Amino acid sequence: MTGSVGAPAERREGLEKVSGTARYAAEYHSPGRAQAWPVPAAVARGRVTGVDTAAALAVPGVLAVLTHENAPRLVEPDDPTLAVFQDPGVPHRGWFVALVVAETLEAARAGAAAVRVDYAVEDHDVTLTASHPGVYVPEEANAGYPAVREQGDPDGAFGSSAARVDVAYSVPPLHNHPMEPHASTARWDDDRLTVHTSSQGSGAVRGVLAGLFGIPEERIVVTAEHVGGGFGSKGTPRPDVVLAVMAARQTGRAVTVALPRRYLPAVVGHRAPTLHRLRLGADADGRLTSLVHEVTTHTSRIKEFVEQAAVPARVMYAAPHSRTEHRVAALDVPSPSWMRAPGEAPGMYALESAMDELAAELGMDPVELRVRNEPDVEPDSGKPFSSRHLVECLREGARRFGWAGRDPRPAARREGPLLLGTGVAAATYPVMVWPATATARALPDGTFLVRVNATDIGTGARTVLAQIGADALGVPLERVRIEVGSTELPSAPLAGGSSGTASCGWAVHEACARLVRRLAEHPGPLPEQGLDARADTRGSADAESEWARHAFGAHFAEVAVDTVTGEVRVGRLLGVYAAGRILNPRTARSQFVGGMTMGLGMALTEGSTMDAAFGDFTESDLASYHVPVHADVAEIEAHWLDEEDPHLNPMGSKGIGEIGIVGTAAAIGNAVHHATGVRFRELPLTPDRVL
Ligand code: MOS
Repeated sequence: MTGSVGAPAERREGLEKVSGTARYAAEYHSPGRAQAWPVPAAVARGRVTGVDTAAALAVPGVLAVLTHENAPRLVEPDDPTLAVFQDPGVPHRGWFVALVVAETLEAARAGAAAVRVDYAVEDHDVTLTASHPGVYVPEEANAGYPAVREQGDPDGAFGSSAARVDVAYSVPPLHNHPMEPHASTARWDDDRLTVHTSSQGSGAVRGVLAGLFGIPEERIVVTAEHVGGGFGSKGTPRPDVVLAVMAARQTGRAVTVALPRRYLPAVVGHRAPTLHRLRLGADADGRLTSLVHEVTTHTSRIKEFVEQAAVPARVMYAAPHSRTEHRVAALDVPSPSWMRAPGEAPGMYALESAMDELAAELGMDPVELRVRNEPDVEPDSGKPFSSRHLVECLREGARRFGWAGRDPRPAARREGPLLLGTGVAAATYPVMVWPATATARALPDGTFLVRVNATDIGTGARTVLAQIGADALGVPLERVRIEVGSTELPSAPLAGGSSGTASCGWAVHEACARLVRRLAEHPGPLPEQGLDARADTRGSADAESEWARHAFGAHFAEVAVDTVTGEVRVGRLLGVYAAGRILNPRTARSQFVGGMTMGLGMALTEGSTMDAAFGDFTESDLASYHVPVHADVAEIEAHWLDEEDPHLNPMGSKGIGEIGIVGTAAAIGNAVHHATGVRFRELPLTPDRVL
């Protein structure tokens, strides 16, 4: 061990990024590269009856206009949101109906404005209610979780409980809005395809493109060298990459499709709205007798996607009687998809808010209520936890935050026009890991090269993987070079599910450990090309675990509510996490703080509304969809426990990318209740609601 893991190593690509030399997908300037601009459908449901492209083609510099009438035919995709220009159907407003390819971005944009599209319009319905007649219980919620789980007699037990909370919470649609919008550059050289794309996983993009265009993967190279965030919206290929490849084939040019920010909400997925009903019953000591969490959400007409928001209730608390249930209605809305901590983020907002209501009902401290309901085993599966330090996170957070001696009475602290309050909520996120492959090479000059098709979406993946490699090799970090972000490298899964470091790190560790053994057996100087070792974690990383594996955390918030303006300010936000071994405190802190910042946005500013008449999101850019800015964020602290868990991977790490957002909105909402004495059960807590 050389101690690289655990050190606050700086990002390897930091200088490139801050100096503007890091290349993103839209910045691959090959000779003759063309630009493209899509045309979104202007109706919420119907069919294209005609596209007049004459005026667009007359714009100087326009090379081609792709529509369903002339675009290349695709092999039917598994993901229907990628079947662009295959038929005249319009499943939702914003669905792409044409693409203008031109010499310049300006010409493409002018051409797109000149395309005339006629539609046969049908009635649409985009309004979700819990009693919508189209609501049904699906087979499964996302990620393969059963839609319904029931233990005992939750309704009967609820009815006879000493303390009861029966409440409804709602979370609006939310948008991922990474800083770098979705973009792809594609080029065909005879029958070989090269694609640069902004994606969380270039391997998946290559696989999907091979299927869609009917060519072997070996003829496709996909890179995602630098990615300006994704938050789940780049976890699967999006239409930009399909359009770029189509347009490149049609025109014989390299083509860049960089989606305009305003078009993202309709085509890259969103966090679906969730309507929650929670019934919590407890005995007089605060022990849960019954826990019921029912979630109703929407999906699109072309794809079933069911936000698994009742799943964390299966992990969190011991209750002898319980039911968790997901329901969904297919509406004429854009297809929802993954967004940071899908399931846990909205689910834990509702559950942890309801737990706060139960604590108030019982007259019990909300930290103590959670401690009292700590389960011995995972409630839903009965499996033992590989490690679970939620209580320690709550205690450590309470100590650091100064929770002791808190006056539990609501609306009791006032400073001028401000009402002050504090709140707490728990956090959880599952441990996921997938098989990966990596290679390690020892070179005669004493350096090492580690190669793995990980994707660094801004998390510091390169840096942490190099640290893992250095320790496994037993050499200083500076002697390890690393290559990531291309399908030319050994294959690895996407950066998603907070699993990237565990998945790729496991393979890097194994490859480096193997190389050390090979070197020990190698007599004399190394050959010029070096000495290689390769590892594939299939069979180990994907083995079914007998343990329930989750990260846990606790969030504490202090707020000031302005009684004149209705504005909520978060003065302090503090998180304590138990997430296995923290491999790089510098990059880990960024993940936790970033997650909490996104949770702050979810609590106070972020929300999208479906316009019932137009069938569209009304907030589609950053001027109307408000993500937190620096002035919104006063003080955010992230801490963690030293957690040792031998049932994870060789590094002992759990994922840290998503847990920061989980429970943050509940902690803030609970603090707002403490400050004002009013329960707001609908996010976000904007001044118009609070006043
Ligand atoms: Mo994340 S929503 O698992 O990319």
